[in-house]
Amino acid sequence: MKPEPLKIMISGAPASGKGTQCELIKKKYGLVHLAAGDLLRGEIAAGTSNGKLAKEYMEKGMLVPDDIVVVMVKERLLQSDAQENGWLLDGYPRSLSQAKALEDLGIQPDLFILLEVNEDALFERVVGRRLDPVNGKIYHLEYSPPENEEISARLVQRFDDTEEKVKLRLKTHHQNVESVLALYNDITVKVNGDLSKEEVFGEIDRQLSFLIEMKSKADSSS
Ligand code: AP5
Repeated sequence: MKPEPLKIMISGAPASGKGTQCELIKKKYGLVHLAAGDLLRGEIAAGTSNGKLAKEYMEKGMLVPDDIVVVMVKERLLQSDAQENGWLLDGYPRSLSQAKALEDLGIQPDLFILLEVNEDALFERVVGRRLDPVNGKIYHLEYSPPENEEISARLVQRFDDTEEKVKLRLKTHHQNVESVLALYNDITVKVNGDLSKEEVFGEIDRQLSFLIEMKSKADSSS
């Protein structure tokens, strides 16, 4: 019998490395990466009315209202690829009401990963971050530079990646993180995100391998 697919949430301050780790997790474990921020940026790029409204909140570093985010995430999460292959939910839930909306659907994660990073490092990471618009790959001018000149020339910076906006995003994060953590306390692992991206992934990989082993033991004994 095919084991139950993994259901993972990843959380952390702005630029703590969630997206970077999700790329690595997705590559190894084949989970569907679902990032609330990316879905919102997709709406903005498509010029929808939700996207226009979302941008106003994102520019202030505030949470986008639930009536936009909750519906968007739910719809994506319930698609067949996420249900069949398992999912990796990045940047959601960010408030108690968002977590409750998942609970109401009977959606419970197996593991809640919290990346912990020193605040000074967050500012450096934000200011140096660049994105490849062709494939969404995340770079950093110093820590994870582009592979060649061609890629380098096409990299873009996110509209909310300024020091001033990160202060606001960080404030919002601090206001909300504890209430979400309280809900997933018994399945939370805190990972030191100050280390290199390979070392951070090493720890996450260890946690996920352990989880898979536990799940397959539970399946075979039931
Ligand atoms: P979102 O896009 O989720 O932004 P965020 O949470 O602020 O996180 P980031 O995407 O900035 O960073 P990350 O942790 O993914 O770091 P990354 O891997 O890129 O949300 C944006 C906005 O959308 C929010 O402010 C809000 O308005 C809205 N929103 C989103 N979700 C919402 C929700 N649920 N409800 C309501 N509103 C919502 O890494 C950053 C940089 O560091 C990169 O350059 C990378 O190369 C580098 N780096 C990564 N790891 C390392 C490492 N270990 N060492 C050195 N450098 C590293």
